[in-house]
Amino acid sequence: MKAIVYERYGPPEVLVLKEVEKPTPKDHEVLIRIHATTVTSGDWRVRSLNVPPGFGLLSRLFFGVSRPRQPILGTELAGEIESVGNDVSKFKVGDHVFAFCGAGMGCYAEYRCIAEDGALALKPRNLTFDEAAALSFGGTTALNFLRRGKLRSGERVLVNGASGGVGTAAIQLARHFGADITGVCSTTNVELVKSLGATYVIDYTKEDFTQNGETYDLIVDTVGTAPFSRCRDSLKEAGRLLLVLGGLPDLLQIPWVSMTSSKKIIGGPASERAEDLRFLAELAQSGEFRPVIDRRYPFEQIVEAHRYVDTGRKRGNVVITLTS
Ligand SMILES: NC(=O)c1ccc[n+]([C@@H]2O[C@H](COP(=O)([O-])OP(=O)(O)OC[C@H]3O[C@@H](n4cnc5c(N)ncnc54)[C@H](OP(=O)(O)O)[C@@H]3O)[C@@H](O)[C@H]2O)c1
Repeated sequence: MKAIVYERYGPPEVLVLKEVEKPTPKDHEVLIRIHATTVTSGDWRVRSLNVPPGFGLLSRLFFGVSRPRQPILGTELAGEIESVGNDVSKFKVGDHVFAFCGAGMGCYAEYRCIAEDGALALKPRNLTFDEAAALSFGGTTALNFLRRGKLRSGERVLVNGASGGVGTAAIQLARHFGADITGVCSTTNVELVKSLGATYVIDYTKEDFTQNGETYDLIVDTVGTAPFSRCRDSLKEAGRLLLVLGGLPDLLQIPWVSMTSSKKIIGGPASERAEDLRFLAELAQSGEFRPVIDRRYPFEQIVEAHRYVDTGRKRGNVVITLTS
């Protein structure tokens, strides 16, 4: 099968189209023929090892010290089940599915095997494969953080980085949970963020949300520009700061802030769970959640797609399409 392989960390050009062995499903696995995958901020980080401050060594230990341990990137996919292992009972050949492989990666390929109990779910019928491929990275991250932040209906939420993959998902999920939402983005993305459910939008090129006197129950920082030191006064009593992007020094403050104030910082990696995928699929099916797609690139142009994502300016998601 064809796959996009990288053998060293570096710029988009390290990605090369290669012929590799097609996988065979084990007893409890399904084999998926991939129709679409994505280029996420996660792919960019793992490819380049450009990671938040303090995580350089840990990342190398996890992903491979001198070269990538997993040579195929790609965290999420949508496709069709081509064959199933002997013990598979939840899925059948021909099912249209989407999956989140997360840090296990391996979706930049024509096929991938996934355990039937892994982060795998039936594709919502009203989404295309392109859209379904973009459901899980931003969706599960935002869902996991909003749940850990114990968001309640009627609370005021600010999403910093509202136009990115995680931000566009966070706005839609917070709207579903009944929050009053403020999105922070640049001028070009104001209308997009409003259309997703934000009541107020702050253009960060014109206004600093930490200086306008407004306060929030929850602040979601997907950009890394709102550490606790900056947005402490923008949090209400018992407010929570969700650091989707935070360096090690930010995360080390967590116990101290909890001990010395009514406010809380929540950070660290989001989990990868099948039930979250099913939850997102139900919301998509009912029309309450739809991944925002910025651009689509064919599989063979994945280097260009990575160059675009490297700019840090994508709106929502960048999809990679595979044809037979
Ligand atoms: N903790 C976890 O488990 C976890 C999981 C997933 C992702 N992450 C991290 O979360 C971060 C965000 O991920 P993502 O996928 O959402 O990234 P992304 O889609 O690449 O984010 C791009 C967006 O960020 C916006 N942006 C850039 N600078 C900004 C600023 N100063 N203020 C407000 N918005 C700004 C851009 O909008 P403009 O062009 O309008 O500026 C663009 O729309 C990444 O660093 C990723 O590593 C963490």
